[in-house]
Amino acid sequence: MHKKRPSSDGDSGSVKRACKEIAVDVPELAKSTVRIQDRKRVQEILQSIHNGGPSKLQVIADFDMTLTKFAHNGKRCPTCHNIMENSTVISEECKKQLQGLLDKYYPIEIDPKRTIEEKTPEMVKWWNEAHDLLISQKIQKDKLVLTVRESDARLRDGYRVFFDELKKQSIPLLIFSAGIGDVLEEVIRQAGVFHPNVKVFSNYMDFDESGILQAFKGQLIHTYNKREGALLNSDHFQELKNKRNIILLGDSMGDLTMADGVHSMENILKIGYLNDKVEEREAQYMDAYDIVLEKDETMDVVNGILKYITAKN
Ligand code: TMP
Ligand code: MG
Repeated sequence: MHKKRPSSDGDSGSVKRACKEIAVDVPELAKSTVRIQDRKRVQEILQSIHNGGPSKLQVIADFDMTLTKFAHNGKRCPTCHNIMENSTVISEECKKQLQGLLDKYYPIEIDPKRTIEEKTPEMVKWWNEAHDLLISQKIQKDKLVLTVRESDARLRDGYRVFFDELKKQSIPLLIFSAGIGDVLEEVIRQAGVFHPNVKVFSNYMDFDESGILQAFKGQLIHTYNKREGALLNSDHFQELKNKRNIILLGDSMGDLTMADGVHSMENILKIGYLNDKVEEREAQYMDAYDIVLEKDETMDVVNGILKYITAKN
């Protein structure tokens, strides 16, 4: 249900004050791409995270279409899987088949009328079929660097400030992706931002002794099983048990469960990029995410929030 803004005079007065304060603390929240259902709540979370300071903070971010752009100059940008699909390591026939899978399953992935329970088996089919196709191409490990270099992969504008600031403040960043770990690592390595504070949970390629792709390692991560992935990686969250304040960045309803493994969480601020089918999905996103960024290809708001949180009290 899409919650209505409070309507009584008293409430709307405090909401107005919250709106004012929030934009003073974080001027980027005044951007036209920003939608917030409950500004008072966001103000309170921001204040609490700010009070905790950088030493209590960790950031958990999805990769495809969250840290990377959805579109650039009107053209769609690739996901990790698309980077492989668009490259010369994949045959024309295989490209057609991967495109066919995307045409079939992507509308299901983003359909606001289907439940996650209904979508999950379809996502498992999509990922398994796509991975089988990639494996059939006998991809060589040493081609990955060039494949990424020649791709149209694009991190969001302002990504360098984001990654560098987290490193500078020793704030752990977990990139939790249903994409391909080897590919996403190469994207951030080539961008010069794969800093030591960055950890990745994703689907990793398994190469045989001669460096040919033969399988994918471990438990499959797709869009809607990130909760299970988070719970399986309890060691990571145990190490960060004192980082009880979370900023979560996602672009899918499945990304909302990425922080489910966090110990003794105190505050979480959920920021969601709404890239596609904006009108159809706005109500759902505004209910689920504290801050929704509509067709915003930048890290501006996130960087503004980090600046406020890490500023001295
Ligand atoms: P994410 O969790 O990092 O956003 O990665 C998942 C995205 O990958 C999801 O939005 C769908 C996309 N995807 C493709 O573009 N092609 C594919 O073949 C598969 C399996 C997924
Ligand atoms: Mg995504």
